[in-house]
Amino acid sequence: MALSNIQLTPQLVQAVRDVVDIVDIAAEHTQLRKSGRRQMGRCPLHREKTPSFSVDPVQGLFYCFGCGRGGDAIKLHMLLSGDDFPAAIETLARRYGVPLPPPRQQRGGPREPDLEPALEAAAQFFVDALNRSPETQSYLERRQMPQELVERFGVGYAPDGWTNLLEALHPRIPLADLKAAGLVGISQKSGKYYDRFRQRLMFPIRAASGRLLGFGGRTLADDKAKYINSHETAAFRKGYVLYGLDMAKRAIRESSTALIVEGYFDVLGAVASGVDATVATMGTALTEDQARLLSRFASDVVVGYDGDEAGENAFRRVLPLLLSQGLTVRRARFGENEDPDSLRTSAGPDVVLRAVTEAEDAVLMELERLIPPAVHQDPRLQARAGKQVSELLQSVRDSILRYSYSQKASERLGVPVEILWRRVGGKPDLEAKSQATEGRTGPKLVRSLEEQALQLLLAGDEELPRVEELPSPDVFLIPACRNIYRAFCDLYRDGGGSRPAAKEVVASVPLDSAEVDQMARLLLEGSIADEAKGLGVALGQLSRRWLQQRLRALSGEISEAQRAGDDDRLRVLLEEKTALSRALHRGREE
Ligand code: UTP
Ligand code: MN
Repeated sequence: MALSNIQLTPQLVQAVRDVVDIVDIAAEHTQLRKSGRRQMGRCPLHREKTPSFSVDPVQGLFYCFGCGRGGDAIKLHMLLSGDDFPAAIETLARRYGVPLPPPRQQRGGPREPDLEPALEAAAQFFVDALNRSPETQSYLERRQMPQELVERFGVGYAPDGWTNLLEALHPRIPLADLKAAGLVGISQKSGKYYDRFRQRLMFPIRAASGRLLGFGGRTLADDKAKYINSHETAAFRKGYVLYGLDMAKRAIRESSTALIVEGYFDVLGAVASGVDATVATMGTALTEDQARLLSRFASDVVVGYDGDEAGENAFRRVLPLLLSQGLTVRRARFGENEDPDSLRTSAGPDVVLRAVTEAEDAVLMELERLIPPAVHQDPRLQARAGKQVSELLQSVRDSILRYSYSQKASERLGVPVEILWRRVGGKPDLEAKSQATEGRTGPKLVRSLEEQALQLLLAGDEELPRVEELPSPDVFLIPACRNIYRAFCDLYRDGGGSRPAAKEVVASVPLDSAEVDQMARLLLEGSIADEAKGLGVALGQLSRRWLQQRLRALSGEISEAQRAGDDDRLRVLLEEKTALSRALHRGREE
């Protein structure tokens, strides 16, 4: 979610990059111990017993040999805080005292006020008001809401009356800010300001980073509007925020699992039942942005929607969204017309906890629904079910998982898996989120030729060939390696021939790409003595491999052109063949 109202300039980003201290950021979340030039600790991004998280202060990079994630200090901060890139730059700039440019001016319009002081002051006012309201406290008691949770979530009370908040906060907080924060409105008739939230239980809504964005207020007076929420502002867009994520993110990351529910009370009820890793949408369908946000913290999501028809429909809508983010999905059943909070008060917290831990694979559940047992008897039903199933399975990012679901589906459908697989299997899982690569606890002992070359380029201290002498990126066949190499060459060229620091190369590719994880790994594994060949040798081997491959492909194209009698094309191909053979020969002689 874009929280930042700051204009990001390359200078600002660079200034932040220059001052952030990766050890500082890591040490806030895990205990580090020095190990040579590195620092090691337990990974703050996933739960583990033995330390596999490594930080290199000199290179400014981290890598976890357990979960396979790595990158620079900014990425680490983003993963730990949930900040997006602009918010990360703003937070880190403040933290390290980098001067920020003035907030973005809206063209022609007035500046956007900083709403946080107004919102924080209101949050405090609501909490104080709850402490002074025995009726509201007994409402919460009737609903069996533990006092400790009410405090932890900052729940408050907006009293009855039109000007309670106004009088308490004004003039300390300018009216314009109260208005912009959606806390007060202006009467059309009298032109006077009034409190928008009256006689409501107030839930503060925070970004994953903890920044206060607005409120949701539940009526305590049977108002027609059961809930009213703060206006959407530049910072608060409901489709970007997950309620409760600021409190839940640690638990989510530790277990890699998140429970997603439909509202404020459900979050509190689930937490009261022992499921700390709970977040909610706020009265709107889950968006792709929210699914992506969740995927930054979780790899497995339990959907805990109401057991009514609306909940069922909502579940069907979110399933492909979550799957497309590379998440695995399970579904908790709370029973007919129950939500997690109502089930807690009617059946007890243990029942809620069990429903969540025993939640079953949501795709398998959908397959059962989409493919009823009688489907074989009717070819048309079979075809329709097959279509629906392949649409669903296309969202699954991991190809093994997708294949496994396809197998199950084909059995139920009564058609060979190949038929289904042809429809859904085409997509490789390259873009899938790189999740925990289980079981890798130390440096990999064999490194591919491409990785060796990259490692030598990025970290090696051998002299580099001149830019023009470096082979083309085509010699790298693995796309991630090719991208890294290309980024390196671009920086090398733009830097007038001075070697780019590894950190700069990392900073020049998208932060959440597999490339960043891979570079961090190569750099933090260090060089592996046995395989150490020179940079020139490694690059030479790559070039030769590519030349040989291209020559093989050319032979095919040449016979093709001969068969087709395409003389022009044949000439071009033969010329290329001669050039390549020469290059290959030259390479061998060196
Ligand atoms: P629910 O109606 O299920 O409310 O709406 P709830 O959270 O279970 O509350 P209780 O237990 O009846 O008191 C689910 C969520 O949908 C949003 C809120 O975020 C709510 O928590 N919602 C609901 C609105 O935004 N506006 C509404 O009028 C109703
Ligand atoms: Mn409820």
